[in-house]
Amino acid sequence: MSKTKTSYFCQGCSYESAKWLGKCPSCAQWNTFVEEIVEKPNTSVPNWKASTSTSQQRANKPVLVSDVVFQEENRLLTPDKEFNRVLGGGIVAGSLVLIGGEPGIGKSTLMLQLAMNMPALKVLYISGEESEMQIKMRAERLMPQAGKSGGGCFILTETSTQNIFKQIEQLQPDLVVVDSIQTLHSAHIESTPGSVSQVRECTAELLRFAKETSTPVFLIGHITKDGMIAGPKILEHMVDTVLQFEGDRHHVYRILRAIKNRFGSASELGIYEMLGEGLREVSNPSEILLSQRDEPLSGITISATLEGLRPMLIETQALVSTSAYGTPQRSATGFDTKRMNMLLAVLEKRCGFKLGVKDVFLNITGGIRIEDPAIDLGLAAAIISSHEDIPVPFKTCFAAELGLSGEIRAVNRIEQRIAEAQKLGFEQIFISKYNMPTGGKNTKMDFSRYNIEVKPVGRIEEAFGLLFG
Ligand code: TYD
Ligand code: MG
Repeated sequence: MSKTKTSYFCQGCSYESAKWLGKCPSCAQWNTFVEEIVEKPNTSVPNWKASTSTSQQRANKPVLVSDVVFQEENRLLTPDKEFNRVLGGGIVAGSLVLIGGEPGIGKSTLMLQLAMNMPALKVLYISGEESEMQIKMRAERLMPQAGKSGGGCFILTETSTQNIFKQIEQLQPDLVVVDSIQTLHSAHIESTPGSVSQVRECTAELLRFAKETSTPVFLIGHITKDGMIAGPKILEHMVDTVLQFEGDRHHVYRILRAIKNRFGSASELGIYEMLGEGLREVSNPSEILLSQRDEPLSGITISATLEGLRPMLIETQALVSTSAYGTPQRSATGFDTKRMNMLLAVLEKRCGFKLGVKDVFLNITGGIRIEDPAIDLGLAAAIISSHEDIPVPFKTCFAAELGLSGEIRAVNRIEQRIAEAQKLGFEQIFISKYNMPTGGKNTKMDFSRYNIEVKPVGRIEEAFGLLFG
C-alpha cells in the first residue's frame, strides 16, 4: 500500500516544507506549521466507500435558480423540544452538526440522553473517551429521563475511522454521534489524534459519509479556554451547524446556542437544567431567571430580552461602592465589559453622576451571557439605583437601548417583550418613545390592549426622573 503524501504548511503564509519547522522562514512566525495531505493513495482502502468513485465521475452543470426544484428538507424531530428549536425545527437528514463546549459542561450527557430517547431509531454512539462501562454508568443515571430501556442506542468504543465505517456499514444506523472528534484518527495521516490535520481529515470523512448516505452525524468537539473549538476554527466551515453548549459549571443552567446554522436561524437558544439524573429542558426561562423577592432592593432591575425568537426576562444586578484603592474596579459577569464602561461614561457625562471614582460590579443572574442591547436601560437603572441606594419600583421592567448622547433607542420586537412582561405579572415597562406606534398609521401596534402600563421615554434623564423622582 502506497503511503499518503503529506507536507507541512505555514498557516500564516502557506509556505510549504517537507518537515515540521518551529519558525517559518518566509514570514518569520512561530508555531504556524500544520501537516496537510498533498496526495492520497488511490489503491488504499477508501475511508468512506463511495467517496473516490462518485465525486470524480459526477460533474455538475450550471442550472438556473428558477429551475431548481425545491424540496422541503426531511427533518427528524427529537423528543427534546429545546434541541429541535435550536436546530431550526429538528435534525436535517444528512447534516453534520458540531457541538462544542468546555470539558465537563455536559456535552456527552446531552448527546447520550438524546441517543437513548429515540426508541424508533437505530442510533450509534461512538465514544473515544469513555469505556463501555463508563457509558453504561452514565446511561443508568439518565434512565429515568430516557424511558426505561435506552431505546435503540448502540455504543461503540473505537477511535479509528476505518473501523468505525466498517461497523457503520454493518449496523446501518439512522443517526451517528461521535464523542469526540478530537479522539478520532484516520490511518491516512500520521499525526496524533487531536492535531489539526487529523481533526480535519476525520471530519471530512464523516462529512462524506453523512452526505452520501443522508445520515445525520453529530460531532462533539472540545473547546479550549479561549473559546476556540480545538483544531482552530477549521471545523466550523466544514460542518452545516455549529452548536455551543455553555454555562457556568457552578450553576445548574446550561445553554445550547446555535452559532452557525445552514438550516435555520443562528440566534436560537435552548436552556437546560443539569440535574442528578441528566438534563431537563427549561421551557419557561423567565420564571426561573427571576429570583423570588417580596420587597424591592436597590441595584436590581429586570429587563426583557430576546434570545432568538423567544422573549426572556432576566435580572440584572449592580453594585456601586466607593473605591478603596486608587484605581476603581469594574467587573461584569454575563455582560460585555466595554459596553459597561460605555454605559458608565454616558451616566457620568449626561446625568452628572460621579461614577469615575466608584467600583462598579454588574451581574446577570443565572450565569447566562446576554448580548441584546435592550438590557442597557435596565442596567443603567440598576447602576443608579445602587449608587443612590433607592430601589426601583416593584414590578417594573425595562426594554430599551441607550445611545451615546443619552437618548433612549428603540429595540426590535417590542410587542413580544411587552407581552412577556405582562405574562409574568409586571405592572409597568419602560421602553423608548421611538418604539411607540406612530400616530394612527400603524394601528396594529397599539399597546393599550396590554394589561401593563407602557412608559415611553426619550432621554435617560427623563427615565430617571420617573424612577427616582
Ligand atoms: P459530561 O457530559 O461528561 O461533560 P462533557 O462531555 O462536556 O465533558 O458532564 C459532566 C458533568 O455533568 C459532571 O460534572 C457530572 C454532571 N452530571 C450531572 O450533574 N448529572 C448527570 O445526570 C450526569 C450524567 C452528569
Ligand atoms: Mg464528554
